[in-house]
Amino acid sequence: MASVLPQKNEEYGTKQYWDQRYSQEPPDASFDWFKSYEDVADILRELIPDRDARIVMLGCGNSKLSEEMYDDGYRHVVNTDYSGVLINNMRRLHEHTRPEMEWHEMDIRSLTFDADTFDVAIDKGTMDAMMTANGDVWDPPSNIIENCNREVDEVIR
Ligand SMILES: C[S@@+](CC[C@H](N)C(=O)[O-])C[C@H]1O[C@@H](n2cnc3c(N)ncnc32)[C@H](O)[C@@H]1O
Repeated sequence: MASVLPQKNEEYGTKQYWDQRYSQEPPDASFDWFKSYEDVADILRELIPDRDARIVMLGCGNSKLSEEMYDDGYRHVVNTDYSGVLINNMRRLHEHTRPEMEWHEMDIRSLTFDADTFDVAIDKGTMDAMMTANGDVWDPPSNIIENCNREVDEVIR
């Protein structure tokens, strides 16, 4: 299999890169950026004591976080990612074993859910991917600031 690493860091900020990466990988591949559920489970259980909480996963990728939260009792996990390739793979993988989990091809900068649909929003590594522009991280280009603000505005809507 060809390398799934981008030639330039900025490619992490493009849908084209993620679609290509997920097309190259086997449909049941999984990779957890930064931390696994095991690493953060204690904090999440404390912050989300209600297993019926409505949770939106922003840029779910093929991380195991959603399925492990589901298996830990969080039944209302709604996954979003702008890669259609990824969402189709994940839906096929989980539809029979985890039927209540939802998968939506959606850009987190313009979510199409109604206001007040969720109690909890989780972003693990997604805003980081949107911030991979060239230049000074303390003085990012205006489009990066705008993208991050759009995600935050959607989450607090
Ligand atoms: C670094 S991966 C993190 C995946 C996963 N959350 C994890 O922790 O392993 C970033 C993911 O966010 C998705 N993504 C990036 N920008 C997005 C956007 N604007 N809307 C929806 N998904 C996005 C990518 O397709 C990719 O699956």
